[in-house]
Amino acid sequence: MIYITALTGLLVAALYLIHRRPQNSIPNIMGPPSPSWLFGHMRQLLLASRFGDYEFRWLKHYGAVYRLKGCFGQDRLMVADPLALQYIVNSPSFCRSPTKDNIAYLLFGERSVITATGRVEYCLRILPESIMGVSTQDLGDEFVSNTIQIVKLSACQSEGHVLADAIGFHLPKWFWRTVMHLPTTTFNAARTTRQLAKRIGGLIVRDKMDAAKQGLEISDDLFSRLLNDEVPDKTKKLHEDDIIAHTALIVIAGQENTANALSFGFLELARHPDFQHKLRTEIYSFRGAGQGNPAYDNMPLLNAFIKEILRLYPGLPLSDRVVAQDTVIPLMESITTTTGERISQIPVAKGQLVTVAIASYQRLASQWGEDAHEFNPYRWLKGDVHQGDAVGPYANILTFLGGPRTCLGWRFAISEMQIIFCEVIGKFSFAEPDNDPVRPRFLTSLQPIASTGGKGLPLSVTRIQ
Ligand code: HEM
Repeated sequence: MIYITALTGLLVAALYLIHRRPQNSIPNIMGPPSPSWLFGHMRQLLLASRFGDYEFRWLKHYGAVYRLKGCFGQDRLMVADPLALQYIVNSPSFCRSPTKDNIAYLLFGERSVITATGRVEYCLRILPESIMGVSTQDLGDEFVSNTIQIVKLSACQSEGHVLADAIGFHLPKWFWRTVMHLPTTTFNAARTTRQLAKRIGGLIVRDKMDAAKQGLEISDDLFSRLLNDEVPDKTKKLHEDDIIAHTALIVIAGQENTANALSFGFLELARHPDFQHKLRTEIYSFRGAGQGNPAYDNMPLLNAFIKEILRLYPGLPLSDRVVAQDTVIPLMESITTTTGERISQIPVAKGQLVTVAIASYQRLASQWGEDAHEFNPYRWLKGDVHQGDAVGPYANILTFLGGPRTCLGWRFAISEMQIIFCEVIGKFSFAEPDNDPVRPRFLTSLQPIASTGGKGLPLSVTRIQ
């Protein structure tokens, strides 16, 4: 009863706030008619059984910039135009959606650089070892199982979540900090994450500092390096509390994204046996070339494959931004408004919600060719991929976002994928069962969903070495 009363109060407050907002500045941008005032297009955009079923149709019909309706009649600008995206991710006139910032605060606290995702045991093992210099076991069963629970809780999307997100958008920070103390499953898990991370991170950091004091050799992991007193530039040395604050972020950040990217990679290999065979041949030839690890960056097919997977399956296909101060978004390709005017820039007012349509941008025919929706790693080798905009940090794609909020682990993620793909493809072959088509679905991140509706990747795997 108490929850229902609280929820009703919240809804009324949110509706009041929504209607208090200044009028939208983009009603003249073309877009599909809204099917509902309550949900706008959000059910089609976020809950489609296959990600992109609606979004890619709108992209084809309206072009790289169009207007959608969010919940409660809110106007949203969908942006896939390369110049506009470059401007949005780099300009201080845009900030991250407040809902996302508040969730990151609940999980990681205010000292953390923010956010993340998480899963797959391979990644769960590699990350703590190379970054903190400890094994997954050292983190303790409670920490690992709590992390898995957080990942599961965040990996769901329903009408309730869509509405909660829309309402959360208008709620102040103090509200988020208060609800964190509610005894719900989600908030319990968030509180436990913060407490355990602080305790375990503290132990790891103190162990390293003791080892340094005793003059023991400095390990190669990232935490040891950040704590190292011998860092020549003292401004680059982090305070121990800052490092502790990143324990949860390091374990959770990137795992789900890396795991999903690997899964989509194995899926495409299963669907393209010829390419799988060629890639395996390349892996064998580089392995045979010398001792130790192959020079991963010199393997053309491997890197073309990784780029193509990250282009087609961005872990975060949509990222919301809010206009922090009135500004004008430049466009690479001009658009026609509902009044028939041709415009090559869009003025947006403070408070306007803008969606960075990462997946749509990565399927623009003008950038990637007429077969932009197809898996074709050879496009990266033929040189006909549009180069030169540097929209994101890697391969001109936005999978790792761009600008000041670029993924801090992007180079690490590429190395992880190079190593894991080479190890696994060298030893196993993959085929897709005829009757079990896997589809990508947006569940906070882009995930492979089996025909049963559950998360999974039903593949036939055969050991070959
Ligand atoms: C394929 C794998 C990965 C993908 C696709 C990915 C993608 C992203 C994206 C899109 C963001 C921006 C989120 C936002 O601002 O809304 C982000 C942020 C971040 N990622 Fe990754 N990531 C990956 C792997 C990793 C790994 C392996 C790590 C850590 C070792 C990592 C650490 C981080 C951190 C710390 C941030 C927060 C940056 C900030 O807000 O300043 N990521 N990542």
